[in-house]
Amino acid sequence: MDSAISQLFTNNRTWADSMQAEDPAYFLRLVRQQSPEYLWIGCSDSRVPANQIIGLDPGEVFVHRNVANVVVHTDLNALSVIQYAIDILRIRHVLVVGHYGCGGVKAAMDDEKNGLVDNWLRHVQDVRDRHAARLAQLSDPALRLDRLCELNVIHQVINICQTTVLRDAWQRGQDVTVHAWCYSLQNGLVSDLKVSARGREEAVEQARNAIARMFWMGKRQRDALAGLGG
Ligand code: CO
Repeated sequence: MDSAISQLFTNNRTWADSMQAEDPAYFLRLVRQQSPEYLWIGCSDSRVPANQIIGLDPGEVFVHRNVANVVVHTDLNALSVIQYAIDILRIRHVLVVGHYGCGGVKAAMDDEKNGLVDNWLRHVQDVRDRHAARLAQLSDPALRLDRLCELNVIHQVINICQTTVLRDAWQRGQDVTVHAWCYSLQNGLVSDLKVSARGREEAVEQARNAIARMFWMGKRQRDALAGLGG
């Protein structure tokens, strides 16, 4: 076997042994059930591992990752994860976690040509184009990228809140909150983007406020923030 691959099996054995040594009932417990309270929707980026960042063990967070943490209305994969997490696992919190310095968001921002993935990133470009005038005010490209990473997360939160899954859950009185977070590769810290919605209208209202703060907008400009799904 390829020595890099055989190393993975060695690592795996070491890990399984140490977990077992630490807590002999560990795997037995996990086999019986998973009861996560959280659904993490994040980027596929290898530097953004869900469990480690929020200090949770296996069994504690249900995870969906894709390039640039996008939730598209018709993506059967993401929708199925969300539906299973909410209807069956009954998770309490959906964490949409973008990250600064996201390669996918940067590619979208700069119109990079990377092949098929460009079509996926078109969704991030929709976000970019919706906020083109605001982003254009920022002369520093790094700052512009930070803001687009945040805007992307906020729009994905709104998308999630518009799904039939969340709408039905709220309709029947289930307690689920959808959060917008952004992770920094530079210091390992998560920023709360101050959108934590328990309903569609609340998501749109909080998104408007978050975006207004992000761009130092006055009340009139804030109220004119149209097209956020509200
Ligand atoms: Co990324």
